[in-house]
Amino acid sequence: MLRQRSAADEIMDDASVTEAEFSSALTDLERINRMSLAYRPVLRWLDRVVAANGGARRLSVLDVGAGGGDMLQAVAAWGEKRGVALDLAGLDRSPWAGRHAAGRGRPGRWITADLFDLDEGERFDVVLCSLFAHHLPHPVLVRFLRWLDARAERGWLISDLHRHPVPWAVVWAGVRLLRMDPMVVHDSTVSIARGFARSDWEKALREAGVAAEVRWAFPFRWQVGTIRG
Ligand SMILES: C[S@@+](CC[C@H](N)C(=O)[O-])C[C@H]1O[C@@H](n2cnc3c(N)ncnc32)[C@H](O)[C@@H]1O
Repeated sequence: MLRQRSAADEIMDDASVTEAEFSSALTDLERINRMSLAYRPVLRWLDRVVAANGGARRLSVLDVGAGGGDMLQAVAAWGEKRGVALDLAGLDRSPWAGRHAAGRGRPGRWITADLFDLDEGERFDVVLCSLFAHHLPHPVLVRFLRWLDARAERGWLISDLHRHPVPWAVVWAGVRLLRMDPMVVHDSTVSIARGFARSDWEKALREAGVAAEVRWAFPFRWQVGTIRG
């Protein structure tokens, strides 16, 4: 168990999920993001992008698999604090994600599409994603790495789960204790089993022919990315 990436399905990826079910799951995902300090390492990485670009004062940012848009909201607050003008966009293939984000007043333009259907011409200074890459099986992950490298002018970042028994057990207990949404109860441990070890990233990057830094981030996340100065 957990020796290699699981191919088990997540309920969230089932197109028949209703808006109410999807929205309820996104509400609890946001709770998990807050409790698991998901925003902090991404915002620190954005500080590094700004520093590497001579203190850039303007950035366009795309969040892929943006879910409820809470990461975009955290990025917007970061931009305001740092004095960086942001052109924000969220992309998610689920129509329920866009409606949930709009209902919460989340900032930025919203694109409802599969990422591989995004217009060829669309480029961003920064492309990031959080808790998204584990949805992709290995060959699609390799394609996604090339896609990221071609779309992001100043840098791209993947923040995703470390496949390990400790987070698996903590999450198994946590979602039940906190009486989370049934989809989240199911998908959370499946997500960790679909998550990554360092060697998975090294293999995928090698096959994609893409250079990137692979860093472990507290608690139990991988940050994989490139910054271009
Ligand atoms: C686990 S959620 C993560 C949401 C958000 N990033 C967060 O951290 O809470 C993964 C999201 O990716 C979206 N997604 C999955 N495959 C996708 C694809 N091929 N293109 C665009 N979005 C996709 C799903 O609809 C879902 O909203």
